[in-house]
Amino acid sequence: MALLDGRVVIVTGAGRGLGRAHALELARNGATVVVNDLNVGLQGQADDAELSPADEVVAEIEAMGGTAVTNGASVSDWGAMEALVNDTVERFGDLHAVVNNAGFLRDRMLTSMSEDDFDAVINVHLKGSFTVARHACAYWREQGKAGKPVSGRIVNTTSGAGLWGNVGQANYASAKAGIAMLTTIEALEMQRYDVTANCISPIAATRMLGSIGMEAGTEGWHRLDPENASPVVAWLCSAESGWLTGQLLRVDGNKLIKVDGYTLDAEYESKSGEMLTVDELSVGVRKLFGAFPKGLVIK
Ligand SMILES: NC(=O)c1ccc[n+]([C@@H]2O[C@H](COP(=O)([O-])OP(=O)(O)OC[C@H]3O[C@@H](n4cnc5c(N)ncnc54)[C@H](O)[C@@H]3O)[C@@H](O)[C@H]2O)c1
Repeated sequence: MALLDGRVVIVTGAGRGLGRAHALELARNGATVVVNDLNVGLQGQADDAELSPADEVVAEIEAMGGTAVTNGASVSDWGAMEALVNDTVERFGDLHAVVNNAGFLRDRMLTSMSEDDFDAVINVHLKGSFTVARHACAYWREQGKAGKPVSGRIVNTTSGAGLWGNVGQANYASAKAGIAMLTTIEALEMQRYDVTANCISPIAATRMLGSIGMEAGTEGWHRLDPENASPVVAWLCSAESGWLTGQLLRVDGNKLIKVDGYTLDAEYESKSGEMLTVDELSVGVRKLFGAFPKGLVIK
């Protein structure tokens, strides 16, 4: 029996890149896959290709003997994502996992970033990860309350930019940092219903990575196969991973790296034992960070 036999999984943005690789790996491991993709360009603009890439992914899955359907709605569309969850359950009898992967970039320096650049990227990544999981969680909660067995899985997608920052990505990095915290909240709130939420941080040679200046053929490019992260996604969608929740996993080539979130570090305590005062902070903050005569350089 395959790891994901009998499990039904929605993957967003699964027409190309990482999402496509996840959908194929899930299907190879026995899952029924709902291949969602709005089919847009790198910056979220309409793509007028005749055949949607999601249809091609479904054809590939069917050719290997699997079951898959397409869904062409936007992850930012609240009602459409509610319908996606309901239609999936109606059609396949259940839903076991959602993989939130869809997105696009609108990189600009802070001073050139427009309101629309900011809103569009927050909408597709952060809101788009919330919508699908929100409706799936409502379904799982209802199932749990009705005494039915639940084995729900949420797999979110953050990025190095969301964890450590990146120049030109105020919108994207903020959304991706938000997704990491969204994962924590989903894990905390849904644990009682046997639903887990984990987050991956992939690195892959897709059109998205190319757009931030990394070109095919450069050193290390071969380690950036979009399929690298997909076995991890498939395992996280399985019943087996039920003990793991609220975690952040970076996949770098063939390495799986556990990422720790914010931790408390060095501390400075007021001299008086009472509230900190402005007067002691020029020394206090220096003590906290060490001496930086030329200022603190952020790498
Ligand atoms: N490529 C990388 O190195 C890398 C690194 C870290 C994180 N990520 C993240 O991985 C995910 C996939 O990235 P990728 O590199 O495969 O990009 P990609 O551009 O190859 O694929 C993204 C897919 O999402 C779809 N999409 C965009 N907006 C959508 C919407 N509103 N609704 C539904 N589908 C939509 C697009 O049509 C596209 O097929 C993204 O969330 C990205 O931020 C990628």
